[in-house]
Amino acid sequence: MRRRSGRRARPLILGALVIAAAVSLAGCGSGDGDSAGSLSSPGRPDLRITGAYMPAPSMATMAAGFFTVTNSGGADRLTSVTSDLSDDVTLHSTKDGAMEEEKSFAVPAHGTLDFASGGNHLMFAKLTHKPRQGEKVALELHFATSGTVRISMPVKSATYNPDSGH
Ligand code: CU
Repeated sequence: MRRRSGRRARPLILGALVIAAAVSLAGCGSGDGDSAGSLSSPGRPDLRITGAYMPAPSMATMAAGFFTVTNSGGADRLTSVTSDLSDDVTLHSTKDGAMEEEKSFAVPAHGTLDFASGGNHLMFAKLTHKPRQGEKVALELHFATSGTVRISMPVKSATYNPDSGH
């Protein structure tokens, strides 16, 4: 990954801008996640999930989901997400405006993994029902080291913006 190439520099810079935008979008998320506890030994991940939301989908076929993972310990990796809402939940990134499926996402040591509109997102396909605003969708986030973390993802308006809170 240290390789330098003039050709690749430009897309990488654009990618960094997209990530920066995603971080600023997620910065104001409501902090209603529960910490699993703070007795972390060095090297052990200590994850907190905040700002989770799903924009109410216009159709019953597909929905997106966003949240932020804050890690105050060692590195971890988000490997999959499961939910009663869908048997087909995939992890997507957005690169140069186009989304790409990812097998997993790194959670950096003492860092954050952000999902935000225009950036990383969960994609729910083949929904069991159409989620309505005000509903809460139960999710299990599966991490390589921390194991399963359960969260409740509130369904917000279709145009919800975490910065403004509505
Ligand atoms: Cu996608």
